[in-house]
Amino acid sequence: MLDPGRIPSHIAIIMDGNGRWAEARSLPRAAGHRAGVEAARRTLRACREFGVRVLSLFAFSTENWRRPADEVQALMELLADAVRDEAAELIQGGVQLRVSGDLTTLDAEARHDVGQVVELTRSNRDFILNVAYNYGGRAEIVSAVQRVAAEAAEGRLPSKEITEELLGRHLYTAGLPDPDLLIRTGGEHRVSNFLLWQIAYTELYFTNIFWPDFDREHLMEAIGDYQQRRRRFGGVEGT
Ligand code: IPE
Ligand code: IPE
Ligand code: MG
Repeated sequence: MLDPGRIPSHIAIIMDGNGRWAEARSLPRAAGHRAGVEAARRTLRACREFGVRVLSLFAFSTENWRRPADEVQALMELLADAVRDEAAELIQGGVQLRVSGDLTTLDAEARHDVGQVVELTRSNRDFILNVAYNYGGRAEIVSAVQRVAAEAAEGRLPSKEITEELLGRHLYTAGLPDPDLLIRTGGEHRVSNFLLWQIAYTELYFTNIFWPDFDREHLMEAIGDYQQRRRRFGGVEGT
């Protein structure tokens, strides 16, 4: 049973293990990615049921360009297709869709369609789905610093005013709380360049489950584990 008073507001997930899930079934890797979209749907639904407010999903990293061209292509198409398929449900379900990352590499039609759902859901407040696509944590910080530096160079920004809060406002996650819980499926114990700035005090949870197998019970287990943690933020408990 989960404690309804200690539900993480923001869960971030590194959805890993699609390829191995497919290989174990003698299926092409793309079949694993397709099954991964189903897991993302289930997880969004379960997050809403449990009272989570923000879900960040890592869908494609700036390093995933190293993969074979056909796999990169399949992942591109999946993102746009998933957004198109889910559009009505997101719009009517009060979900705000945000995309973190550089979408300029998507083809024009996909970019238009994804951008349209982002626009149409902008004022939704019930839940925020933040999809990290062509996203890298270091690239995000560099681009924030570039914008801050441009303002400083124009003389509009004294260096004293460059604070953590200001830099945070230049990240894709501006306005979102930092993740309380980061889940990585697929058995690796690393963060692979995801939300580097934002996870400074996030609780980390690793599971061997391959992402396409991840379901409501696994999410409940992860949140249950989170609820046992004592978050001190550098302080001393009980003070
Ligand atoms: C995660 O699954 C999905 C993406 C990185 C896009 P992988 O494709 O990395 O699956 P494994 O790690 O090879 O099993
Ligand atoms: C992390 O998975 C990126 C996404 C889930 C999108 P990877 O499979 O790319 O990570 P590494 O290469 O094992 O670190
Ligand atoms: Mg992987």
